[in-house]
Amino acid sequence: MEQTKKENFKGLIKENKNIRQVIWKEGSKVETINEARFLKFLKFKNYQVPDVLETDNRKIIMDFIPGISVFKAMQYFYENKSPERIESLVRYLCDGISNFQSDMRDWKEKTNPYPVSEKLKEVFQLLSGQCNIDDKKNKKLITLASEVFDQNAFYIFRDATPKNYIIKWINEKDLPDTSNSEIIEKIVWIDFSTVRYKTLAIDDFASILFHYMVPQKLREDLLNLHNIDIKRDLNNQVAVFVRLARFWVRRYYYSRYYPEHFRRRYEKEDIYFYQKQFEDYLQKMYQIL
Ligand SMILES: Nc1ncnc2c1ncn2[C@@H]1O[C@H](COP(=O)(O)OP(=O)(O)OP(=O)(O)O)[C@@H](O)[C@H]1O
Ligand SMILES: [Mg+2]
Repeated sequence: MEQTKKENFKGLIKENKNIRQVIWKEGSKVETINEARFLKFLKFKNYQVPDVLETDNRKIIMDFIPGISVFKAMQYFYENKSPERIESLVRYLCDGISNFQSDMRDWKEKTNPYPVSEKLKEVFQLLSGQCNIDDKKNKKLITLASEVFDQNAFYIFRDATPKNYIIKWINEKDLPDTSNSEIIEKIVWIDFSTVRYKTLAIDDFASILFHYMVPQKLREDLLNLHNIDIKRDLNNQVAVFVRLARFWVRRYYYSRYYPEHFRRRYEKEDIYFYQKQFEDYLQKMYQIL
């Protein structure tokens, strides 16, 4: 009689089934093809990104990464008064972007400058009629921004907002309370729908640093550390203005037209930080014109 070895009865154990949770992401053709190729390229370069399981011109099916975003972790550390832990996270993200910007020199696919004029037109259309918005100056500002991006957009736009990094950790309340080294190992980069665009180096640093949880001094220190001049360099100021405008207009649009979604997405944020940064930078831009 055949021996009753455990391996002979593998079919009885359901846990052997290969069940994967997946994310199904649909987008335009050019966006999807670029993102899928880019994810594979990053995997090849040893970045922690989700595995692409299947793709065609319109969709990407990739591994679902269970966890919370770095943004959420930063919010938690902000509420719990742990600025040093916010600092170690944003330092890690900035170092990551610095490496990314040099590694991506090997990416040879076609890229276009970030469509800044279209993006700013949308901002000004939505915010027009509000105090301190000057339609004539806005036109000049769009022309200036287009020139800046046409001449200086040399870096792939990763869109490095902390919402585009997932920590493989189920609940922010269970995050280890000693240091972030354990967390950092578990960070997965997601969302590369913008990699068909080129932008200025500062853009992704701004996407990481211009959030209300990041102290002003740290923001300045990290920009300095990565040799990015924001005090004197006009091009950098324009690029930061554009990012802040996008950050603010999205929040404004949601709160005004989609209050339900707004609550789910932004409720816990200090959105006035984004409004104030935008308004301050807009005035700075008006003075330059
Ligand atoms: N591989 C993944 N594993 C787990 N969750 C994911 C994954 N990819 C995307 N998500 C979730 O879906 C959301 C939207 O995906 P993605 O960031 O790619 O698109 P988006 O257009 O930028 O939308 P959003 O503005 O919500 O980030 C992410 O913020 C994240 O919460
Ligand atoms: Mg995203």
